[in-house]
Amino acid sequence: MKEISTMPARSTVKKTVRAVVGEKGWKALRRYKRKLSGAPAPAPRPAPKPTGVAAISDDLCKLAAHFKTDKWGGHRYAQHYQRHLQHLKNDSFNLLEIGIGGYNRAGQGGASLRMWKHFFPNAQIFGMDIQDKSHVDEDRVTTFIGDQSDPGSLTGIAAKIGTLDVIIDDGSHRSPHVITSFETLFPLLKDGGIYAVEDTQSSYWPEWEGSDDRNAPNTSMGLLKRLADGLNYEEFVDADYEPSYTDLNIVSMHFYHNLVIIEKGKNAEGTNKKRILKTRYSEEGVKG
Ligand SMILES: C[S@@+](CC[C@H](N)C(=O)[O-])C[C@H]1O[C@@H](n2cnc3c(N)ncnc32)[C@H](O)[C@@H]1O
Repeated sequence: MKEISTMPARSTVKKTVRAVVGEKGWKALRRYKRKLSGAPAPAPRPAPKPTGVAAISDDLCKLAAHFKTDKWGGHRYAQHYQRHLQHLKNDSFNLLEIGIGGYNRAGQGGASLRMWKHFFPNAQIFGMDIQDKSHVDEDRVTTFIGDQSDPGSLTGIAAKIGTLDVIIDDGSHRSPHVITSFETLFPLLKDGGIYAVEDTQSSYWPEWEGSDDRNAPNTSMGLLKRLADGLNYEEFVDADYEPSYTDLNIVSMHFYHNLVIIEKGKNAEGTNKKRILKTRYSEEGVKG
């Protein structure tokens, strides 16, 4: 005949002790038991691999392709944005893009705003478009109706957003509009902010209010090339040259195929021109 044990089963004892000491105490007891037995600690469980869009959220080119913005594929911009905006990856900041996409087609557009949202998990993403794109609004994505050729429209939207850390012009690509937007919004961009102008190819197209004269001053590339000169304003030799706002507040410009990225900051590194151009800047040179 089988002997009936009066001892409770081991599992019952374990359950009771665990209930009494709680989860934390139970883990401590197990650690102690392991220590006494000399058994190695179990390897920590690997973090579960992200899936879906989370798996590509560090790669702007993949995100652009996923959300179907032409910033990758149609153009090659995403790789440049990755380089110039990577430092903001986990920051809390405001990004405004002019041109949400979809033009007057109902329910269309928003691809790049979604891309930015997934690349920057802590940023607020704003878009403005001449068409109503409010269907794109969602958590951390806000759209405005506005015309980039109208300074009042631009300043009104900027005031609603507050601090502007990144501005991207992917709107009409008409030179007069690009220039108005830059002249209105650049002074409102935060010191250290980034301003990007996309699709500068239209600057060379008279059909798009550009010009086939590459030296034309009133095109978007005409403006951008002048700004590049301004980076070196301290080297100019005109005695009466007065530096402009952009001379004093642009620290770098990056020209890519059809894309220009401008960094705002204090441009006053100084010059050694008086030491090099001795004749010009000597008493005699100045008099002469
Ligand atoms: C190239 S799409 C933007 C694409 C979008 N940024 C993307 O990458 O997915 C250009 C958008 O600019 C808008 N647009 C055209 N003229 C404009 C203007 N004057 N002011 C603001 N937006 C304008 C158009 O309605 C269109 O939706």
